[in-house]
Amino acid sequence: MPTFETHTDANQHYQSGFANDFATEALPGALPIGRNSPQRAAYGLYAEQLSGSAFTAPRAHNRRSWLYRIRPAAVHKPFTQIGRGKLVANFAEVPPTPPNQLRWDPLPMPAAPTDFIDGWVTMAGNGAAESMTGCAIHLYAANRSMQDRFFYNADGELLIVPQQGRLAIFTELGKLDIEPYEIAVIPRGVRFAVGLPDGEARGYVCENFGALLQLPDLGPIGSNGLANPRDFLTPNAAYEDREGKFELVTKLNGVLWRADIGHSPLDVVAWHGNYAPYKYDLRHFNTIGSISYDHPDPSIFLVLQSPSDTPGVDTIDFVIFPPRWLAAEDTFRPPWFHRNVASEFMGLVHGVYDAKAEGFVPGGASLHNCMSGHGPDAETFEKASKSDTSKPAKVDATMAFMFETRTLIKPTQFALETAQLQANYYECWQGLTKHFNPEQR
Ligand SMILES: [Fe+2]
Repeated sequence: MPTFETHTDANQHYQSGFANDFATEALPGALPIGRNSPQRAAYGLYAEQLSGSAFTAPRAHNRRSWLYRIRPAAVHKPFTQIGRGKLVANFAEVPPTPPNQLRWDPLPMPAAPTDFIDGWVTMAGNGAAESMTGCAIHLYAANRSMQDRFFYNADGELLIVPQQGRLAIFTELGKLDIEPYEIAVIPRGVRFAVGLPDGEARGYVCENFGALLQLPDLGPIGSNGLANPRDFLTPNAAYEDREGKFELVTKLNGVLWRADIGHSPLDVVAWHGNYAPYKYDLRHFNTIGSISYDHPDPSIFLVLQSPSDTPGVDTIDFVIFPPRWLAAEDTFRPPWFHRNVASEFMGLVHGVYDAKAEGFVPGGASLHNCMSGHGPDAETFEKASKSDTSKPAKVDATMAFMFETRTLIKPTQFALETAQLQANYYECWQGLTKHFNPEQR
C-alpha cells in the first residue's frame, strides 16, 4: 500500500501561499527549466499537463500544472462501473425539499472494513456535476486506509473537513497530512489515496462542481485578515515507484468506476504550476468582529468562496465559527434569529456552537434552507438576554462551520430517511415563549 508516513516538520514538506505558481522536484533536475515539454524529460519521465480551468480563462483564473511522471495518467485498463452507492451528483433527482429545519446526529462508525471512498454518503446538495454547477455535501466515516487503491474525482474539487481522526492524503502532487481543525482541498482530477493514522476517521466533504474555491476580497478590512494566503500549504513533490495489482477508482457524473492499474499513479517526480492540492489550519483564521454593538453578518467568517457569474454572489461559501472574543455591548451576542435567501448546511468539528446549547454535536449536521426561520434555541436566548455585556466574553474550544449556497440545498433520500435525522429538532424553539407586554417598555 502507499507509504502514508506522517511528517513532523511542516516547512520541510510544504510550500506556502494560495494558488501560487509553485515549483517542486523530488529528484534534482527533474523539473525542466525554461520550458514545459522538452523533447526528452530528465530521468526518462513523461511530461503531462493537468488543466483545472479553460485554456482561455483570464490569467487571474487560469489554473494548470505540469507534471513530470514515471508513466502518463493514460496508462490503465478500461473502467467498469461499480455503481452509485449512496452518492448523488444530480439534485434534480432527489425528493421534494421540506421547508423544515433539519438536524442529524453523527453517522455511526462502519462495522465492516471501510476506506475513505467506500465510506462516503451524500447528504444534500444542488445543481449537477454534469453541468458543473452547484455542490454535493457528503459525510464520510471510515476505518481503514485505502489499500492499493487510488481515486480521482472528475466531478469537482473536494473540500475535506475532518471531524475525527487524522487523514494522510498521498496525492499525485505530494503528501498532505491533516487533522481535525485543518481542511484539505483536492482539485478535480488529482489522484490520491487516503491513509488513516488513527484507525478511524469521520468528517465532511463539500464537493464543488463550479468555479474553483478562492480567497474572498477583503474590502474595507484591508490587506490582512480572515484566512491569510501564507497559511495555505501545498505539498512538495513526492512519488512512489511501485508496481503490482492495483485499482484506480473514479467518480464521473456521480457514478463510481474502477480500472485495473499495474503501477501506483502517485508517480509524479516533479511538478510546477498553480493547480494543486492544499491544506489550511482553521486555527490560523484571523477572526474579525464588532467592538461596539451588533455582530456583523456571518460573511465576516468567510474562509473560501466559489464565485458565481453574478458579482458578489457566491455559489458556495465556506464559513467557520472559531474561538473568538465577543465584545459587543448591550447586544444580543449569539447569532440572531434570521431567515436568509441563502441556504445553510452546518457541521461541528469540536465543542458547542454558540446558538445551540445542546443537540448539535460534533460530527452532526444541520440544514436551514432558503427562508426557513431559525436561530438560537430557547435556553440560549434566555441566557444571552440576561447576560452581562459590559465585559468581553470568550467563545472558546469550538469549531463550527457552514457550507452556504446561493441555491437550495436539497437533502437526499438517504438524509431524509436515515435514523440519524432528529425528529424532535423543532422542539428547541418551542420554549421561546411570549414576553410581549404593551404596558411595559
Ligand atoms: Fe443561519
